[in-house]
Amino acid sequence: MSNRSYYIAGNWKMHMTRAEAAKLATELAAQLKDGKHKYLAAPSFTLIETVAPIVKGTNIRLGAQNCAPEEQGAHTGEVSVLQLKDLGVQTVILGHSERRHNYKEDDALINKKVKLALKHGFEVILCIGELLEEREAGKVETVCETQTVKGLEGVSAAELANIVIAYEPVWAIGTGKTATPEDAEAVHAFVRKVIARLYGADAAEKIIIQYGGSVKPENAAQLMAKENIDGALVGGASLKPETFVPIAKFA
Ligand code: 13P
Repeated sequence: MSNRSYYIAGNWKMHMTRAEAAKLATELAAQLKDGKHKYLAAPSFTLIETVAPIVKGTNIRLGAQNCAPEEQGAHTGEVSVLQLKDLGVQTVILGHSERRHNYKEDDALINKKVKLALKHGFEVILCIGELLEEREAGKVETVCETQTVKGLEGVSAAELANIVIAYEPVWAIGTGKTATPEDAEAVHAFVRKVIARLYGADAAEKIIIQYGGSVKPENAAQLMAKENIDGALVGGASLKPETFVPIAKFA
């Protein structure tokens, strides 16, 4: 057992209306009140203002799923860290595989966003993870190392305290196929070694590395039991209290 505390985050992706989001946030706030871990809800941009007052003062942090790489200006369709800060957002998820692969975000762009979010005092959940064909080609470590190193380029040791890494194998996202706890643990241990090389053993020991990809009430505890798995980034199962709360309170 490490000294790290568990961090269970819900990535609500592009789901829900304001009324639905308010209902979910209200139920989560009530049901997680006695939860022992660190929690996050990351709704769509349009829902943030609705969810903010509901989670304020609770043990659920407020997150966003992306941000622009610039502070402000002529960037049609983008949302700035300044606007997110104005809404009370504390954490930004960056480099999600859906951003990388469906919207063609590369490591340089993600790195720019990471540095900007850190500069404005946000906690960043930096997502990394390989495609199925990369796993089959034996490239898991290369891909995860590259995404970690490039994602964190120029991030200082002090800023690293505000970084959380989420290992999300792309083939496990929304597919019902979870990585086995052993396979996930191997990658988490490897990523921690990469952090040790970049920032030293102490920083590596402290950094939270979440697992994401079809986390469910049925598999959460086995995943969390692994030495280097410090929490979860949950998609589908974060949309209902019946599935998110048991994950958040895994025994
Ligand atoms: P699922 O839990 O739906 O597989 O999604 C994982 C994810 O992408 C969280 O960011």
